[in-house]
Amino acid sequence: MSAFYITTPIYYVNDVPHVGHAYTTITADALTRYHRARGEDARMLTGTDEHGEKIETAATKAGKSPKAFADDIVVRFRQTWKNLLVEPDDFIRTTEERHKAVVVDLWKRLEAAGDIYLGEYEGWYCVGCEAFYTEAQLEPGNICPQHKKPVGRVKESSYFFRMSRWQEPLLEHFEKHPDFVQPESRRNEVVSFIKSGLRDLSVSRTSFHWGITVPGDPKHVMYVWLDALTNYYSALGGTGAELTERFWPSVTHLIGKDILRFHAVYWPCFLLSAGLPLPRRIFSHGWWTVRGEKISKSLPATRVDPNLIAGDIGPDALRYFLLREIPLGADGDLSYEAMIGRLNSDLANDLGNLVSRTLSMTDKYVGGMIPPATPALDAEGLAAELARLALHARDEAQRHFDAFAPSRALEAIWELVRGANRYVDAAGPWTLAKDPARKVELDHVIHTFLEAVLWSARLAWPVIPGKAEAILEQLGIPASERGPRWPQRWNQELAAGGHIARGAPLFPRIDEARQAELLTRWIPEDARVAAASTPPTAGTSSLPVPGAPQNGAIQYADFEKLDLRVAVVTQAEKVPKADKLLKLKVDLGGETRQVVAGIAESYTPETIVGARVIFLANLAPRKIRGIESQGMILAAGEEKVLALSALDRDVPPGTKVR
Ligand code: MSP
Repeated sequence: MSAFYITTPIYYVNDVPHVGHAYTTITADALTRYHRARGEDARMLTGTDEHGEKIETAATKAGKSPKAFADDIVVRFRQTWKNLLVEPDDFIRTTEERHKAVVVDLWKRLEAAGDIYLGEYEGWYCVGCEAFYTEAQLEPGNICPQHKKPVGRVKESSYFFRMSRWQEPLLEHFEKHPDFVQPESRRNEVVSFIKSGLRDLSVSRTSFHWGITVPGDPKHVMYVWLDALTNYYSALGGTGAELTERFWPSVTHLIGKDILRFHAVYWPCFLLSAGLPLPRRIFSHGWWTVRGEKISKSLPATRVDPNLIAGDIGPDALRYFLLREIPLGADGDLSYEAMIGRLNSDLANDLGNLVSRTLSMTDKYVGGMIPPATPALDAEGLAAELARLALHARDEAQRHFDAFAPSRALEAIWELVRGANRYVDAAGPWTLAKDPARKVELDHVIHTFLEAVLWSARLAWPVIPGKAEAILEQLGIPASERGPRWPQRWNQELAAGGHIARGAPLFPRIDEARQAELLTRWIPEDARVAAASTPPTAGTSSLPVPGAPQNGAIQYADFEKLDLRVAVVTQAEKVPKADKLLKLKVDLGGETRQVVAGIAESYTPETIVGARVIFLANLAPRKIRGIESQGMILAAGEEKVLALSALDRDVPPGTKVR
């Protein structure tokens, strides 16, 4: 059985969990669930980073001992993960004995390798990052580039790690393992950093005491990153332990891009020195802003409590949004309107509606009992087509989950959800139900759409485990079988004769009134007051009052008015005596439209035929140079068109764009 081990960063205990932490942790949980569903030996680790100057200072400020301070925050992290349906297999704290023992062992290995020496460190240190900086890395005025605050000057006796020695072996590893750091852009960044020259690293401090003591020299505590990074290994029990044998080095470190260097340079160098295998992969995801702002302690409105949101819309909806909205690796902005829009469209309209209408028809037409399937009766081949779609969705979801692309996986799964809704419309069970002679056909249709519901739930389970299990329950699947399982064959799992049990609506639609209410709850009052009293100016941060868009912002409902569709250009010709205009015919999936487009300076008729573009289909027709234009193709550029809107893969003309 292949092993899949994924870790999140261990979070500092000077902060309560916010949506950024939640993102990494939910992603790791969903990927673990997926691999488990595929039958792999899957394991997820998260935890807390409790040592170091930053925590010691925060604890002192709070008038507590560092350990007592950490104990309080750890409860918040554990509870948050529970609330978000995150089920790690282990939660490690760096203050635990099991961790400290392995760190001490690692130190001794580095020492035995001749890579530790005593010296004196003099330089800049940012306590926020717990990192050393050279002058060149700082912003003018000795400002930390991350925290935008002045860094401190440190001068103290320190042990050093001979990192310079590992520069070439590390580069070799990168060459041999091109996917060691992902996405590729991040890999290139790290490689050029290594090539610019690795300097020896200060790995102990003497000016404070909250940390793991250096063996044989109790005046020194270990550098907190050396301590913290080792958690991934210590949580397995260290060298020789049963879990280590099982899971090391089949490990993926999922991290935010802020801490890439520690993971992709320092940690591998420590491991190389200790003679231990390097992790399989380091995946660096992007950075969330909240309503356009970086998450920061000085901006309360960015410090979204994931517990609050999950409490209001359910943990599944929050998980779905975070994973669906942006590809893993890209940056994203959390806009509440976008979140509610997704909930209403993908979850309420597509999935929720599919489940409620199919189950209600099952009750109405066949008394709530799962009827038998008779594939031979699929005269028009609609059910066979749905089965093919399901298999395709599963294979695509697999491909994308395997490639750490959960947003793409969800996109594929929702092809099935939407296909199932279309199947219900096309198969028309309400007509079949009127004719007793067509009972077997009716049974087949009902079995088919229930099967599609089952597949949708199984495939989406890694991301929305709570609601997926609720769907399985409604389909009559016993509790013991609602966990990790990946569908294999069509019509294999759903047994005829079982009973469905309809439940509460899965994802109630959020209407405008409720949306306004939620925004009031989620946006702290001071942020609302500040926004209301300061007129927004370009470039400054302004957080609009809910329901009162500023800066020309529109509501999602406004956007929904646009009927955007995929169109293929089938004909093109120049408009006589007009340098800028082309007359086009576009196919909207069976329907042809004529459009006059101002793109002739950038595209000739020959190059544009065959282009697949995004088309605004409900723009009121108007005459341009006497020719009726029935819509508009979207393009980039202002005065002059620079490029046409394009799609990164082929989808049939007529497909809706949202
Ligand atoms: N304690 C160190 C990590 C040690 S790992 C051996 C640390 N902790 S942290 O509490 O600051 O958490 C940082 C991590 O939280 C990021 O790497 C990322 O995974 C997550 N995020 C924090 N803010 C985030 C966003 N705004 N957006 C996305 N993820 C964010 O660094």
